[in-house]
Parts: sequence; structure tokens; C-alpha cells
Amino acid sequence: MPFQPIAGYPLHRPRRLRAHPRLRELTRESHLTVSDLIYPIFVYHGANLRREVPSMPGQYQLSLDRLGEAVAEVAELGIPGILLFGIPEHKDTFGSAATRDDGIVQEAIRITRRQAPNLLIITDLCFCEYTDHGHCGPLSEAGGRLDVDNDATLPLLAQQALSHARAGADMIAPSGMMDGMVQAIRHGLDGAGFTHIPIMSYAAKFASGYYGPFRDAAESAPSFGDRRGYQMDPANGDEAIREVALDLAEGADIVMVKPALAYLDIARRVKDTFGVPVAAYNVSGEYAMVKAAALRGWIDERRIVLETLTGFKRAGIDMILTYHALDVARWLS
Ligand code: PBG
Ligand code: ZN
Repeated sequence: MPFQPIAGYPLHRPRRLRAHPRLRELTRESHLTVSDLIYPIFVYHGANLRREVPSMPGQYQLSLDRLGEAVAEVAELGIPGILLFGIPEHKDTFGSAATRDDGIVQEAIRITRRQAPNLLIITDLCFCEYTDHGHCGPLSEAGGRLDVDNDATLPLLAQQALSHARAGADMIAPSGMMDGMVQAIRHGLDGAGFTHIPIMSYAAKFASGYYGPFRDAAESAPSFGDRRGYQMDPANGDEAIREVALDLAEGADIVMVKPALAYLDIARRVKDTFGVPVAAYNVSGEYAMVKAAALRGWIDERRIVLETLTGFKRAGIDMILTYHALDVARWLS
């Protein structure tokens, strides 16, 4: 440590820098701003639908005809980007609705582009909202276990990415934790001339209990088993670094850590190890806990959310995917 007590020398006093509010501002190390935020949106089949998700107060399933007003508000608040999820009417074993050029997310991209031309449109790339079994790709049996077929999923992911790119997506965010997914998507995009579209990879995504409310919103809970065969064990930090290294080697432009709160050590290690742009997903269960306590008047929601998100910045996170984005944008303005 730089400060060794010296006999007879005045006591060092950190409190000197805390007394004046302006001096606290000048010495503040991390800053949360509206430009750090990405807002996730659930687009749901049907018409004239704006249905609140019971476990996510303030978040809605929106039909395509109600999306325009929502994205206009996001843009108005100065939030740089949205992350689109689609919940289609028809699901099947392969999740074939995900790769259609007239699919729900593809249409949502076009509507967003029209309503909010300057908003960054990011699309979540996975199959769990589109398969009837709720897993993140087609299934096959290996070693007596039914699980997602990794290599059969890769070309489908490339197709899905291409249909998003053709519809006008600005960035693709694959969330399925398949081995080789970034490379497959990068090759697919490059081969069709979309070399300019970046990939934000869910690189270190853990098999987490915190996704519960999201699966209500996206109707994507697996109908059997769980996702531990493809998402990471929450106990593993070194493995997260290896996962991030692989995704970067395969061409990821931004790497994501998910969830955020219980994994800030991972975010810090990723930032220090690779020095690349790091995103964190402040997931549905994290949101639900804050909302539940706030609705009972047990916590000061604004203070707690701003403190939490500032903590993400301090941990080295560059951008935050959060359902609190609209509130935060209002609080900071
Ligand atoms: C789908 C996906 C999930 C989330 C984002 N993309 C859920 C899952 O893996 O089951 C979770 C987001 C949240 O909880 O807010 N692959
Ligand atoms: Zn999935």
C-alpha cells in the first residue's frame, strides 16, 4: 500500500474528500449515465396487446401494433439501444418460426426502424422462445441423455442471424451458449455481406435461478429438464474466462456476463484479462426482487437501483441490459 504511517506525521484523513458535495463529485470514480443502458423488450403475437408480466411489474408483453409507441418512448429518453425478444404464435420441435423473414422479431425490427430510426436494434438470438420443448435448439440423444444438439443448432443460428440482419438488425446477440456459435454466426453473416454487423455474445451465461420471471414473460421455460447441459455452473470463474476467450477468438465484438449481481467478479476478471467491451445482463429475477421489495415500501427503489447499476460500472462493465432502463433514464435526466 502507498501510505505507510510515519512517526510524527499528520494522520491521513480520507474524510477530507467526502465533506464537500462538489469535491465528492470531482473524486467520483465511476459514472452511470443513460448512454450505458440497453432496454429489453418482449414482442408477443396477436394484436392490441400490452400485458404486464406478473412477476415483472412495469414490464409488458407487447404486440407488434403496440411496439411503435414503446420504442418511441425509449428513444425519447435517450436510451441508446433495445434488445428484442419475440414470442411467436406457433412453436415446433425445431423452432422454425425463428428463421422466417416475416417472423415476429423480423417484423419488430422493421417497425422499430420506422418509429425510432436512430435506436440501436439488438436482437436476442436463440430458439427457446420458438421450440415447443423450450430448449435453446433442436434435441438429440447422446450418452443416454436428451439434450440440445450443439452442431445441429449452429447452422440454424446462422440462418436466424441472417434473417435478423436482412430485416435491419444493428447487432446480433446469441444467447444459447452453444459451442462454436459465434464462429458459425460470423461466417454466416460475412458470407452474405453483413461483415459490418457486430456480435454481442452471451459469453459467460450461467444456469441461473434468476431467469425465472423472464421465462414467464417469454414463455420459454424448458418443458423437461433444465439448461445445465449448455449454460455454465454458477461455481465456475476460470471456466468463464475460457468461455470468453473462445468467443473472442471466434469473432465476438462485445462479451456479456449474465446474470450481473452474483457475477461481478467475473465481469471484473473479463475486463482486466481482455480489455474488451463488456456487457452485463441485469436479469429478470434481479429486477423482480427489487420491485417486490419496493412495492412493499421496504426499500428505496431509486436509490437501490442507482447504487446497483453504479456498482456494475465500478466492476468494469461498459453497458447494462436492464429492465430498469426507462426509470433510470428518467431519474438521471
Ligand atoms: C434465452 C434467454 C434467457 C434470458 C435471456 N435470453 C433465458 C434463459 O436462458 O432461460 C434471461 C433474461 C432474464 O432473465 O432477464 N436464451
Ligand atoms: Zn435460449
